[in-house]
Amino acid sequence: LTLLEGGLEDEKINREYLLRADRSVDRMISIVEDLDTVTKLESGQLIMERSKFDVIELVKEVVELQELNAQKKDISIRLKLINDKPIFVFADKDRIRQVLANLIVNSVKYGKKGGFTEFSFYDMEENILVEISDNGLGIEQEHLPRLFERFYRVDKSRSRESGGSGLGLAIVKHITEAHNQTINVRSTPGVGSTFSFTLSKSR
Ligand SMILES: Nc1ncnc2c1ncn2[C@@H]1O[C@H](COP(=O)(O)OP(=O)(O)OP(=O)(O)O)[C@@H](O)[C@H]1O
Ligand SMILES: [Mg+2]
Repeated sequence: LTLLEGGLEDEKINREYLLRADRSVDRMISIVEDLDTVTKLESGQLIMERSKFDVIELVKEVVELQELNAQKKDISIRLKLINDKPIFVFADKDRIRQVLANLIVNSVKYGKKGGFTEFSFYDMEENILVEISDNGLGIEQEHLPRLFERFYRVDKSRSRESGGSGLGLAIVKHITEAHNQTINVRSTPGVGSTFSFTLSKSR
């Protein structure tokens, strides 16, 4: 609008508004992609293509992509590792990458300035438990049961500030369930949140 109202003459305004338009288009593309993923997952059209891979390696890869975003909020992302051995799991690598990306993006988006996001891995009989914790805003108990529903977002003011459509966690839950695995959340308002999901071990 500012452009139509005569801003076209001003090079700075042109640039600013083109950048804004570009960001809006990016956001729209990502919402459409998320909707497409949710629809396919819900109608059972997405078949999980499992293979053996090192989940620590994958976490490192996804963390690297989010590092810049995290730095902007002075959030440090760390991995709690007991040793430097790989942890092999049997799952759909691209889909698990999507799960990890959604959880990291959330932990940064709803994290405190100067805070942290931390990954831990627990060896269980058949499975590996992956935990991602933050010391961010946290979530009130009353919201937890509905958190994984599509389009569910915790509060309007928080949501307006941070953008997003409330599809992320729905996708995360669908993907873990398509692997016959589970995802859980614990959270304390003002203290932080922990999301944990399981993956089946590979030998
Ligand atoms: N780590 C977290 N800390 C605090 N609140 C969280 C965290 N992760 C998710 N939430 C809350 O849960 C809601 C749902 O998350 P979800 O990822 O599904 O949607 P979104 O991040 O709002 O949008 P999208 O992921 O589609 O861009 C968020 O709006 C947010 O309020
Ligand atoms: Mg999200």
